[in-house]
Parts: sequence; C-alpha cells; structure tokens
Amino acid sequence: MEVLRDKADLEFLLDLKRDGPMVLVPTMGALHEGHLSLVELGNGLGPVVVSIFVNPTQFGPNEDFESYPRVLENDLDLLGSLDVAAVFAPDVSLMYGDGVGVKVHPGSRSTGLCGEDRPGHFAGVLTVVAKLFGLIQPDIAIFGRKDAQQCLVIDQMVHDLAMPVSLVDGPTLREPDGLAMSSRNRYLDQEQRDRAGCLVKSLRAGRTLLEQGERNPAVLKAIMEKELAPADEILYAEVRRVPDMEIFPSVSGRVLLAVSARVGVTRLIDNFVLEINGDEIREGFLLGTVSC
Ligand code: PAJ
Repeated sequence: MEVLRDKADLEFLLDLKRDGPMVLVPTMGALHEGHLSLVELGNGLGPVVVSIFVNPTQFGPNEDFESYPRVLENDLDLLGSLDVAAVFAPDVSLMYGDGVGVKVHPGSRSTGLCGEDRPGHFAGVLTVVAKLFGLIQPDIAIFGRKDAQQCLVIDQMVHDLAMPVSLVDGPTLREPDGLAMSSRNRYLDQEQRDRAGCLVKSLRAGRTLLEQGERNPAVLKAIMEKELAPADEILYAEVRRVPDMEIFPSVSGRVLLAVSARVGVTRLIDNFVLEINGDEIREGFLLGTVSC
C-alpha cells in the first residue's frame, strides 16, 4: 500500500489506471467498519485508492474541525490489512495552499436538511470532492448512504458539471443496537450513547407507518420527531423524494427518511432509503440514477 502525500506522488496512480477502472473512496479518516465496507465494495470494481483529509471548508465556525479525530497511523494500520492500492493523505497546504478561491456552488438537492442546518457545508464538500476528483482522476467514486444528502448533492454536481466519474453508494453499517457507525460516535459517553439510539428508533417508526400504509409525509414526520425526544436537540426529521430531494404531497416511489439530532454536543445524522412498490417496502439505493 503506497502512501501518497504530495502532488508528485500522484504519478503512482497512472499505473493503477492502465488496466481498468480505478476506484476512489474519499474519507476524513478516523476510520471505522463503515468506511472499510466501502473499500471492500470497491475491491470488486478495481484498484482502490482511499483519501484521508479533514476538510476545513466543510466545517462551520462553531463545529468540530479542531477536535475532529486525526489518527492517521491507526487508519493506515486498518487499511493495511485490506486490499488498498494507495492512500492519499495530503496536508492542508496541498489542498488549500493558495487559499480558498473557486468554490463549487451546490444545486437544488442541498435545500433543507443538512444544507439548511449547516450553511456552507455542501459547498465545502463539493469543492474538496471536485479537487480530489481532479487530482486523483478516479473512474468510480464510492460514498456511503449514511450521508444521503451528500450522495445526492455530489451526484448532481457530477451530472451538471459533466465530470467523468461514476458514483456508487454503499449501505450504512450499524452497531449491534442499530446506531449508525460514525467517526463522531467516539464523542459520546455511555449515557449519551444509549440515548443516541433514538435516531434509528425514529426511522424504524417511520418505516413501520409506511408499512401500515401511511403515505402522508406530515404524519411520518410527526412520529419521527416524537421518537427523537430523548435527544438534547432535534435538528430535523424529514421525508424527501429520491433523487431530487423534493417534498412529496403523498409518499411514493423512492423515499428518504432522514433525521438529525444533537446528543450532548454531538450532532448525529441517520436515514433510511426505502423503495415503495404497492404494499411492499424494501431498502432502496441513491446513486446511479443520473448519468453523464
Ligand atoms: P467521512 O465522514 O469520513 O465519511 C467518508 C465516507 O464514509 C462517506 O461517503 C460516508 O458516507 C461513509 N460512511 C460514514 N459512515 C458510514 C457507515 N456507518 N456505513 C457506511 N458508510 C459510511 O463524508 C465525508 O467523510 C466527507 O464529507 C468527504 C466526502 C470525505 C469530503 O470531505
């Protein structure tokens, strides 16, 4: 496994692209099994490059950029035990040495949810992802469904700016009690960890109502909000159409149930992507719906 730190090191990637598609899994490090599952998904598609970069432009002024866990040696150990061709771990001077100039303006799918709750967040995500695509030039990039709106906002960028990369989404890996794995879970103490279970409970309650035939988004939203009560602050409980993130008059087709809440000082998100087909409700996907 090569560790690439500088622009000149990226020459190593030319060889990887020679024999077929090269796969990028972008991360901010502090890796857990969810991240590793995306690498494993990529292994079936081509040689995998993982990027590790805590991107300052996607954090708001009062967010956790300074305290975000940075554990590169541990991350490299974890990736070393998998089939990873290269890790790109640039420092901030390579990514933003000239300051933050051009930024990518997110499209309509960034409206509401994290787009509203974290102003500037998706412009920062899109800017760094566009730059990673430019530097690494992957044929395929893999993102986690855990960050559903992020997947859809990146998909819209790739489509609208005709970027030559295919996107794939991987399912959300969860702890045994259902809590979605996240680098931020390590901020939670035991009592908060227990209360954090309300996010997945809220989504399960929404799914159960859908299974019982409920199609009114306001009713689904209300039950999801009710179940989030153990959190310290409810940030949102939303029901949106996939992939365009529009609000439904009545739920049908592919639907995103998405919740966000603060437990202690930690901001958590989770979602279910569901496909409704008559009475049948099954797990859905996000990407591959818009092609260049
Ligand atoms: P980060 O939060 O490190 O996540 C990296 C990737 O792992 C994202 O695509 C995310 O959706 C996925 N992921 C996180 N938790 C997961 C879980 N429990 N199961 C499966 N996949 C999971 O998302 C970012 O970094 C950044 O915004 C980034 C795209 C790297 C741009 O800076």
